Amino acid sequence: MKRIFIILLIISSSIVNSQSIKSPDGKLALTFNLTDEGIPTYQLTYGKYKVIKESRLGLMLKDMYEKTGVDKFSQSTNQVPSLDRGFTITKIDTASVEETWNPVWGEVKTIRNNYKELSVTLSQPSVNNRQMTIRFRLFNDGLGFRYEFPMQDNLNYFTVADELTQFSLTGDHVAFWIPGDYDTNEYYYSKSPLSKIDATYSRNVNEIFSKTLIGKNFVQSPLMMKSSEGLYINIFEAALVDYPAMHLEVDQSNFVLTSHLVPDAVGNKAYMQTPCKTPWRTVIVSDKATDILASKTILNLNEPSKIDDTSWIKPMKYIGIWWEMHVGTASWNYADVNNVSLSLTDWKSLKPNGIHGATTERTKRYIDFAAQHGFDGVLVEGWNVGWEDWFGKWKEEVFDFVTPYPDFDVEEISRYASSKGVKMIMHHETSSSVTNYERRMDEAYEFMKKYGYPAVKTGYVARIIPRGEFHDGQWMVQHYVRVAERLAKNKLMLNAHEAVRPTGLHRTYPNWLACESARGNEFNAWSVGNPPEHETILPFTRLMGGPMDYTPGIFQIKMSYYNPDKKEQVHTTLSKQLALYVTMYSPLQMAADYPENYERFMDAFQFIKDVAVDWDDTKYIEAEPGDYVTVARKTKGKNEWFIGAITDESERTAIIPLSFLDSDRKYTAEIYADAKDAHWEKNPMAYEITSKSVSSKDVLKIKLAPGGGCAVRIW
Ligand code: NOJ
Ligand code: CA
Repeated sequence: MKRIFIILLIISSSIVNSQSIKSPDGKLALTFNLTDEGIPTYQLTYGKYKVIKESRLGLMLKDMYEKTGVDKFSQSTNQVPSLDRGFTITKIDTASVEETWNPVWGEVKTIRNNYKELSVTLSQPSVNNRQMTIRFRLFNDGLGFRYEFPMQDNLNYFTVADELTQFSLTGDHVAFWIPGDYDTNEYYYSKSPLSKIDATYSRNVNEIFSKTLIGKNFVQSPLMMKSSEGLYINIFEAALVDYPAMHLEVDQSNFVLTSHLVPDAVGNKAYMQTPCKTPWRTVIVSDKATDILASKTILNLNEPSKIDDTSWIKPMKYIGIWWEMHVGTASWNYADVNNVSLSLTDWKSLKPNGIHGATTERTKRYIDFAAQHGFDGVLVEGWNVGWEDWFGKWKEEVFDFVTPYPDFDVEEISRYASSKGVKMIMHHETSSSVTNYERRMDEAYEFMKKYGYPAVKTGYVARIIPRGEFHDGQWMVQHYVRVAERLAKNKLMLNAHEAVRPTGLHRTYPNWLACESARGNEFNAWSVGNPPEHETILPFTRLMGGPMDYTPGIFQIKMSYYNPDKKEQVHTTLSKQLALYVTMYSPLQMAADYPENYERFMDAFQFIKDVAVDWDDTKYIEAEPGDYVTVARKTKGKNEWFIGAITDESERTAIIPLSFLDSDRKYTAEIYADAKDAHWEKNPMAYEITSKSVSSKDVLKIKLAPGGGCAVRIW
């Protein structure tokens, strides 16, 4: 009798406590396990390689309130039992999904969503059988998992003190990282083994206006890594809503990454109410770097569009009154005075500084240029009152988003733009006074509709108000989504700068065309800039979550052109600036330089005029993070392809088999390449344009200069 009992126990514990699934193609395997102490863990393998060793799951709680009866666990006693141990499994569900869907806009016309799912419902017998479900989805290229908290009597409101999710790696992988920071992602990347990460250099970075460094061994996600066996591993999250962003603490001896959530003003991480769930944690893995770039797992883990009628959502190519402020030949502010209050009623009483960028006349010049060259939109920054005193003061009332400066005639501009078939793009720099923006946004969106602005670029420079909140905390994460939702209600589109980095939410809110949320081209105008490898890393990190408004297309590479004292420069060749329109995927692309500079190089400018912003297909041809990226994309609805190839500071030859072309016809290829002696530093503006007839059997071999690139149009 006793023997039988023991055998039964072994069988039931081996069935119940360890559960495995394989990816649809069988290559990835996920194992969930509950330890003897009832601690949930998981591990992941890719073929014969271990990717994630047995790693812990769970959450630490602070306050907790039961749904019925009196709150047993009084606030801040730290007595609250956490969701970290003492679990038993109460239910196992598996599922298998294979479907396709069509994004409103994107890199490809149709996306395949194919995964195996395992969901494990756990209960804590010692805490009134409190329940939590961990849902795993295993795709051919990676894993997503999240915590779900069903509605239940014994868990209603709770405060997350910490998330315990770990990613235990097999070795000292090479990582492409930026410092863990609650307020900014505008760093350039470092490449080092995990053991050598030292984020404290961030203290000497002066060009970022609001920084909150976490500590030496903290980095941001997405974290891109390469193992000594040649595996590419990307750790990130998907569908970040109503929860703080996940950074990673690196155990530099054991190579364990632990999730580190951005806190709020009083140090808590997240406020939850059942039923609720966390964002997905993702591990994307392949032995081919190009597979990481082609992965659709982050998008697939997001909810389908919440917007039913998407007919008004349109990808856009735009120009704007913008680079000239970054270079310094024009200003956002109208007058050179300090301490002007928003309550000033007569802005005309201020003496104009003579270099204000957003004048009616200059805007019309841009509208004409856009109309002449087929651009959809014109962005104008510095059009509204408040820029005299806009940042660094942690001031509540800065902008009202509806009062133009005296020299910006919004009526006339709106009329003129519409007569030329050009759309205006609104700019709302919130100066991070987010409470102020929330109070004024309805009126601001009415103003946009009245004057025919279909899209807005928002901005969050400087420290956040509510004071004490961070850019990437739960409160701000909710704010960014609230803005996207409110804009959608008004049929308006969004491009958010300095917001939390995207996590695929553009599937759910396709009016959210792009974010900046990383170090954009603008840094090249006024700081040490972006090293030549920067754009070869971004697709593996920042762009994993969604399009970036990188603002490429700077032709005048050295800023000494404007002022001999200026040492700054763009760290690429001119030809690489063209390639970025293809390598940096975005449905919103700016031609960022002055019209006057494009007029100097009309032959090269032709590529920017021609390049598409929406695609039927994408082929990642060759890539290595930190070294190079080559990609080909097929224009939506046309038999036309664009290729972009970029390299870091080393020269290389891009090898591009054209096998993606139709085999039964000839095409013309127009090639915009670096000239023989081009070099990002020594000779950045030397390019050559050639044209030839090609077919699907051809292989293009194009030399890229140090810091260079090439752009090709095939039709
Ligand atoms: C930072 C944004 O990234 C940039 O594009 C903008 O011009 C400035 N803030 C001013 O709002
Ligand atoms: Ca920025």
